[in-house]
Amino acid sequence: MRTLAIETAEKIGEIVTLQGWVLARRDHGKIMFLDLRDRSGVVQMVGTKALGDARAEDVVEVTGLVKKRPDSMVNAKIPTGSVEVEIQAITVISKAHEMPFPIDTDGYEVNEEIRTKYRYLDLRRPRMARNIRIRSKVVGFIRNYLFDRDFVEIETPILTKTTPEGARDFLVPSRLQQGKFYALPQSPQQYKQMLMVAGMERYFQIARCFRDEDPRKDRAYGEFTQLDMELSFVTQNDILTLIEEMFTKLVGELFPEKHISQSPWPRLAHKDVMAKYGTDKPDLRKDKNDPNELAFSWTIDFPLFNEQKEDDFFFGSGGAKFAPSHHMFTAPHPEDIPLLDTDPMKVRGLQHDLVLNGFEVGGGSIRIHQADVQNKVFDLIGFSEAQKQEFAHMLTAFTYGVPPHGGIAPGIDRFLMTVLGEPSVREVMAFPTSSSGTTSVMEAPSPATADQLSELGIAVDAPKDARPADGDAVYAQIVAGLEEKKMAFENYEHAPVKTSEEAAAVRNTPLHEGAKALVLYADNKPVMVVVAGDRKLDMKAFKTLYKIKDLRMGTPEEVTAVTRVTIGAVPPFGHLFNIPLYMDASLRNNTHVSFNAGLHTRSIRMKAADYEVVAKPTVGEFSK
Ligand code: AMO
Repeated sequence: MRTLAIETAEKIGEIVTLQGWVLARRDHGKIMFLDLRDRSGVVQMVGTKALGDARAEDVVEVTGLVKKRPDSMVNAKIPTGSVEVEIQAITVISKAHEMPFPIDTDGYEVNEEIRTKYRYLDLRRPRMARNIRIRSKVVGFIRNYLFDRDFVEIETPILTKTTPEGARDFLVPSRLQQGKFYALPQSPQQYKQMLMVAGMERYFQIARCFRDEDPRKDRAYGEFTQLDMELSFVTQNDILTLIEEMFTKLVGELFPEKHISQSPWPRLAHKDVMAKYGTDKPDLRKDKNDPNELAFSWTIDFPLFNEQKEDDFFFGSGGAKFAPSHHMFTAPHPEDIPLLDTDPMKVRGLQHDLVLNGFEVGGGSIRIHQADVQNKVFDLIGFSEAQKQEFAHMLTAFTYGVPPHGGIAPGIDRFLMTVLGEPSVREVMAFPTSSSGTTSVMEAPSPATADQLSELGIAVDAPKDARPADGDAVYAQIVAGLEEKKMAFENYEHAPVKTSEEAAAVRNTPLHEGAKALVLYADNKPVMVVVAGDRKLDMKAFKTLYKIKDLRMGTPEEVTAVTRVTIGAVPPFGHLFNIPLYMDASLRNNTHVSFNAGLHTRSIRMKAADYEVVAKPTVGEFSK
């Protein structure tokens, strides 16, 4: 019969058997102290060294007598601090190697890639163990709360079709229908609306969402979890009230040390909140140094549309000017429906964002339930007939008796990150992907076998970073581009050169005229920077000017992966490689610029003004 560490406090005078990990070992002469850790906590054990050589993180079974500690030895900091176990027998069940990093610290100091590689050890540290256990309690609380209020928990498919929430989809190839793909859902949005047509009325799901977007501290790469909800026959107020009551009760029960700054939670119109705070997710804490303060608020009355931008999912869908500010199923404010025809940018949407301490921890809306309004929104965001067809199932469903409905999706990870005061959502996920997109422990993605690929009918291009250098192709591309624009240029073929100085000498052009192109990584994204051949890039000035946190030179491998040419031959054109280009103002002192055009043996000289027209650089001062 196994006794848990925590139970020893109640078993003074009894012989018990414990199983767990050795948290720490301290030797005092012939005596050793072992702290044993199991899921319930820690208890101190004491015995002679002759009993064995159990070491930190070994898994052991110990039999011993529980004794009260002398008053002077009581440790008030732990629940078992008034007792210790006098070891009679100890068996090492399994030995542990030395840990790859300390696990008795908070772990923030350890490299993240290593932490995720050995995530199962990282989760042993008390902070992480607490986060994962509290997460389970939060989800359990939510389930019970919603079951008590007539909600149905329903799983929706993971292999599905695109549900645009504004990010890139993850695609999964189909074996049975070669050449076709499933998309992993960015959220269960369309399914939950269909469940309302089905008459479920109150749905929720602890739903995994998949988005291929760049990670940030409050944004996981790949997947994250929402409490996804949808309700029929409700007003926006019903949704807001339900969520407010649930989270207030949840905080009271699971985070008793926290206090909510203001109840009822402020509901702020988008226009006002932007005017007053300059953001739609204001941090309304009264004391930002108080780790226990939680300031919830709602942002409502968002405009239904934003101006369409180039990076919008919808961009180019027929040249329309509008993009949904939440998603395309959000209902316009009933009073504003006529404006859809006259002044769409003025239409308010029935959208609600849940904000906590300056983070958007939830978003939702009342939905469009009229096929004609939905159709009009599709038109306004510029959907072609073919694009509309992709969502025809929604319009069809809506022809069979659709209740008015709406919902919300609080992000579980983001909520926990904020409440626990963690610096990133990854600190509240058991097995997060690292910021470079590698999964914990198993280090996916990994290559597929030739058999798998052939079954799927898929051929894989050489991966970008293994692509061979192809300076000839790049050179040809540059020449073709200049000829097409009818721009004059001089063409040089010369002995191979490596540096700006060598190039200037072999071309017999002034050093200052050379356009030196460098590939750097700015906050992990490749960028190109061009400075005059006689100048040096001032990394500090560049960082400050463009508000970059982390700036480094690309390695030779990275430069080739990005540009297909080898270092020293990179031409000063970011657009050829789809990366942003920054030009130092020093180059503007020239009438002409010269550069290696993809090859160490070929250069081009052209008018400086023409160069700027083709390259379209952002110009600033960042050289020395
Ligand atoms: P939205 O896209 O606003 O809405 O997402 C809702 C909430 O999910 C969380 N969230 C994330 N958390 C961690 N990592 C991410 N990459 C990430 N992206 C989003 C945030 C956010 O507020 N279908 C709609 C909801 C609805 O209309 O009911 C939706 O997904 O906390």
